Amino acid sequence: MKAAELFDLKGRVALVTGASSGLGLRFAEVLAANGASVALVARRADKLKAAREKIESAGGKALAVEADVLDRAQMVGAFEQAERAFGPVTILINNAGVAHSTRAVDLAAGEWNRVIRTNLDAVFFWAQEGARRMIEVKAKGAIVNIASVLGFGVSKGTVAYATAKAGVVQMTKALGNELASKGVRVNAIAPGWFVTDINRDYLTGAGAGLVRDIPVGRFGRDGDLDGALLLLVSDAGAYMAGTTVVVDGGQMVALRG
Ligand SMILES: NC(=O)c1ccc[n+]([C@@H]2O[C@H](COP(=O)([O-])OP(=O)(O)OC[C@H]3O[C@@H](n4cnc5c(N)ncnc54)[C@H](OP(=O)(O)O)[C@@H]3O)[C@@H](O)[C@H]2O)c1
Repeated sequence: MKAAELFDLKGRVALVTGASSGLGLRFAEVLAANGASVALVARRADKLKAAREKIESAGGKALAVEADVLDRAQMVGAFEQAERAFGPVTILINNAGVAHSTRAVDLAAGEWNRVIRTNLDAVFFWAQEGARRMIEVKAKGAIVNIASVLGFGVSKGTVAYATAKAGVVQMTKALGNELASKGVRVNAIAPGWFVTDINRDYLTGAGAGLVRDIPVGRFGRDGDLDGALLLLVSDAGAYMAGTTVVVDGGQMVALRG
């Protein structure tokens, strides 16, 4: 089998949450470049428009859908808009996320709820909605949840974020277990540190020294998640379900020194 065939996504319809910037924008571009039509979901309309234009000018098919992942009616509307434009969604990338840096004793209830609702609750409800729709049309489906190395280890000031991401890892196992027999494969990617809007101030400031703990010797950059993404959504990953692929430059297995 040739690699291009194995990873080919022609005729597939993908929906990417959090596609207005960072990792989600890159995921959308990679899916489109490999043949999928892609619905780009996020709240910032201007960024979505720019993302759609970028994908289209590279020859891909994209649709911008303004929606808040916390709003269940907007969630249903997003799937419906994607279906009307391209047909049933068979690839869902559950990527939208937020972070915080407040230490546990100072974390306000509202901040805890914002992070847990976005990074954990919404991931479940979008996966549930996507899976129901894939099962209804008897499609071979793939759902990829974006977890984090903070779903396994912790650092200070990440209690809500790390709790949510650990939940995503477990949720991925549970959904993978329940849905694989119905034709829907659910897996996750756990990225290490990638400099994006979510952490730019920290990783280019006080956290810059974290790079010393990464065996590959640098933070992640555009392209480093392309292979894991394509593996999990394409026929190349046909026998993968419930697993989390860690892409972190070796950070998680390296003890200091
Ligand atoms: N960067 C890293 O080092 C790293 C490492 C591990 C995991 N991750 C995970 O990767 C994912 C993407 O993060 P990123 O690094 O690419 O950061 P980012 O550039 O800040 O992207 C976050 C995305 O989530 C969207 N979003 C946030 N809240 C939303 C909501 N309520 N409704 C709809 N969209 C929402 C944002 O879009 P709008 O603001 O336009 O709505 C944006 O597109 C997150 O789940 C993050 O936890 C990142």
